[in-house]
Amino acid sequence: MFLSATCLAGVFFTLGVTATSSLDPRWQADTRGNTDPTPTVDKSRFVSTDGANFQVNDSNFRFIGTNAYWLPALNTDEDIDAVLSNISHSNITVVRLWAFNDVSTIPENGTWFQLLANGTTSVNLNETNGLPKLDRPSLQIISMAEKHGIYLLMTLTNNWNPMPHDNITNTTNTPMLRRDVATNNSLPRNSLSSDYGGMDGTYQAEQITQTIIAAFENYTTQIVSRYVNSTSVLSWEIANDPRCNSSIGATPSCNTNTITRWHDRIATKIKSIDPNHLVSSGTQGFFCADCPKIFQRTPAPPAGPSPAANSRRQRKAVPLTNKRILEERKEARKKTRALQIQSQSPSGVKVRGKWVATPTRRQEAVGMGSAFDGSTGVDSEDILNIPNIGFGSFQLFPDQNQYAPDDPNLPAFNNTLQAGLDWIQRHGESSQMFGKPVTLTGFGLVTQDNAPSFVPFNSTVAPFANDQIGNLTSDLGRLPFGVTDQQRDDAYTQWLQQGILSGLGGMIQYQWGQGNLTAVNGTPITPAITENGIVPVQSQNGISPSDGYSIAGVGQEAVQATLQGAAQQFVPDA
Ligand SMILES: *[C@@H]1O[C@H](CO)[C@@H](O)[C@H](O)[C@H]1NC(C)=O
Ligand SMILES: *[C@@H]1O[C@H](CO)[C@@H](O)[C@H](O)[C@H]1NC(C)=O
Ligand SMILES: *[C@@H]1O[C@H](CO)[C@@H](O)[C@H](O)[C@H]1NC(C)=O
Ligand SMILES: *[C@@H]1O[C@H](CO)[C@@H](O)[C@H](O)[C@H]1NC(C)=O
Ligand SMILES: *[C@@H]1O[C@H](CO)[C@@H](O)[C@H](O)[C@H]1NC(C)=O
Ligand SMILES: *[C@@H]1O[C@H](CO)[C@@H](O)[C@H](O)[C@H]1NC(C)=O
Ligand SMILES: *[C@@H]1O[C@H](CO)[C@@H](O)[C@H](O)[C@H]1NC(C)=O
Ligand SMILES: *[C@@H]1O[C@H](CO)[C@@H](O)[C@H](O)[C@H]1NC(C)=O
Ligand SMILES: *[C@@H]1O[C@H](CO)[C@@H](O)[C@H](O)[C@H]1NC(C)=O
Ligand SMILES: *[C@@H]1O[C@H](CO)[C@@H](O)[C@H](O)[C@H]1NC(C)=O
Ligand SMILES: *[C@@H]1O[C@H](CO)[C@@H](O)[C@H](O)[C@H]1NC(C)=O
Ligand SMILES: *[C@@H]1O[C@H](CO)[C@@H](O)[C@H](O)[C@H]1NC(C)=O
Repeated sequence: MFLSATCLAGVFFTLGVTATSSLDPRWQADTRGNTDPTPTVDKSRFVSTDGANFQVNDSNFRFIGTNAYWLPALNTDEDIDAVLSNISHSNITVVRLWAFNDVSTIPENGTWFQLLANGTTSVNLNETNGLPKLDRPSLQIISMAEKHGIYLLMTLTNNWNPMPHDNITNTTNTPMLRRDVATNNSLPRNSLSSDYGGMDGTYQAEQITQTIIAAFENYTTQIVSRYVNSTSVLSWEIANDPRCNSSIGATPSCNTNTITRWHDRIATKIKSIDPNHLVSSGTQGFFCADCPKIFQRTPAPPAGPSPAANSRRQRKAVPLTNKRILEERKEARKKTRALQIQSQSPSGVKVRGKWVATPTRRQEAVGMGSAFDGSTGVDSEDILNIPNIGFGSFQLFPDQNQYAPDDPNLPAFNNTLQAGLDWIQRHGESSQMFGKPVTLTGFGLVTQDNAPSFVPFNSTVAPFANDQIGNLTSDLGRLPFGVTDQQRDDAYTQWLQQGILSGLGGMIQYQWGQGNLTAVNGTPITPAITENGIVPVQSQNGISPSDGYSIAGVGQEAVQATLQGAAQQFVPDA
């Protein structure tokens, strides 16, 4: 019997367990340098919302961010400092990271936050390798110019786990095995974003009892209490990519209402502990216009003009219906067909580089598609409408999800590009409709260079790892997987621009990459691997982990420049 971990976590809230936490006294104060032991926290310094805008210090706040799930797992303070310093030099003001790191046995080396073993949980408060490491990004911010502070989007758990299906057991104290990335290779713990524990980890390491179900809220309570006064926290993100299925199957009864109710319970719980910070969801942002709603759609307040009010490219927001989506798709095809006929030349349409649809991406020729039909259990509009959810979140990963049926008049890369633009625009409309900010919390394309490290979210292997490329390319005559660096830069530039025009509150690229880090065996920053080519070797020093999207290496400067270019559009009076 497999129960959805998502649904299990939701059950907890009937139990009413209250955790007590032991706090390091330094963190009971405002972590931005206020040393007064009984500080009066200035509420305007927390990120809040006013209609569809974020606000800080009574001014609108929009941001470009980056993902560095691995940041707290780095081996030295200097490395954490260096990464945040480089990030801020690109004028990036938000970093999204994993504020969880579960283990079922205490590792010899490396970071861990929570031990789940023998039916009990305990949080690691060791300064060197435990939860206090999370405090350090805040410390780093203190040393930066106040004007360019970085905010942290703290994700509390993950929907994904690296454990292959066969290894999921309910026996006590089963070690969490690493997800194999290629034949004869095991990545170190914490390399992949799905390898930090989370809902499935809890499920797999313990008996299914109410005690473990309680553990998620216990942890949430402890960490949220710990940083309740920190002005460096942008928001508590409930989970990365919550939905009915995870690495294990869903209960048949799980639907969009199950997931919406689960968010409502957790958001309400977090707000009861921490009224200072916003709470957000972390879903992929799937829509379901026809799904029954729990929260009635309330019209957005007329309030101030949205950031994109004068944009020609942003349509006026009207309620989402399946009929409208299908009509818009038909219209778009008419236009591309007309353009194709108009521009027909002997050489046909040329696209730089090659791009192929992949077996990891579900193909849907007809119907609304899984991004719009509620099949994942996510109805992002109903979730956005939850009173204690401060802003909306969505993601854009065309290598893993299909956002619209492919338009036969467009080359594959252009379909990817256009589907992303439409997806962003639709979420901008959602922001206007519901009068709350909406944020793109992760977007990325796998490039040909990164393909060997790409592990799709529900796979156990990197399908394009080097030792398989011979089979895929030569023997079967397949094209290389992934876009060129130039196509990536083109797509990122256009998506960011669309997000700015559509009035998104923020956009967070996936994922940062960093070289010259301190390497220690048994941690995600290991000495360079040479024999299997998984890690691009640029130096003898460590390089940050990648699950297929890192910007480390060739092309890094171009992506940084793209992000910086977008960030500078948010500067007041620019
Ligand atoms: C947060 O600050 C308030 C005073 O504004 C204080 O009463 C409370 O104890 C602080 N909480 C923590 C966890 O530091
Ligand atoms: C962008 O970052 C650079 C380098 O840190 C800094 O000098 C500049 O003031 C920043 N620009 C904005 C608009 O924040
Ligand atoms: C769990 O219990 C077993 C058997 O008593 C013991 O060997 C093991 O060390 C325990 N694990 C932890 C992490 O305490
Ligand atoms: C909650 O966390 C505390 C501290 O880590 C631990 O002692 C306690 O056993 C946990 N409770 C549950 C129900 O997991
Ligand atoms: C904290 O962890 C470090 C690194 O594993 C270890 O050397 C040290 O003994 C631990 N400290 C305590 C108080 O357990
Ligand atoms: C875990 O699963 C893999 C393949 O699915 C299998 O080869 C391995 O033996 C399993 N390990 C355990 C401890 O069950
Ligand atoms: C867990 O394992 C025990 C036996 O080890 C079994 O009786 C029980 O049904 C299992 N529970 C689930 C949910 O699979
Ligand atoms: C992930 O794979 C497992 C095992 O194959 C399956 O049960 C589950 O439904 C899959 N989840 C998704 C979201 O596809
Ligand atoms: C496809 O995208 C490329 C790069 O943005 C662009 O130059 C080209 O005109 C597009 N082709 C079509 C048919 O839209
Ligand atoms: C190569 O592809 C063939 C056909 O799909 C398959 O049977 C074989 O196992 C593959 N070999 C390797 C080394 O992956
Ligand atoms: C490491 O640092 C050196 C010297 O600053 C620099 O030239 C090199 O590009 C860096 N390597 C990486 C992978 O960032
Ligand atoms: C832990 O680190 C030490 C020192 O670098 C190393 O000797 C040891 O092999 C590492 N352990 C593991 C399991 O990688």
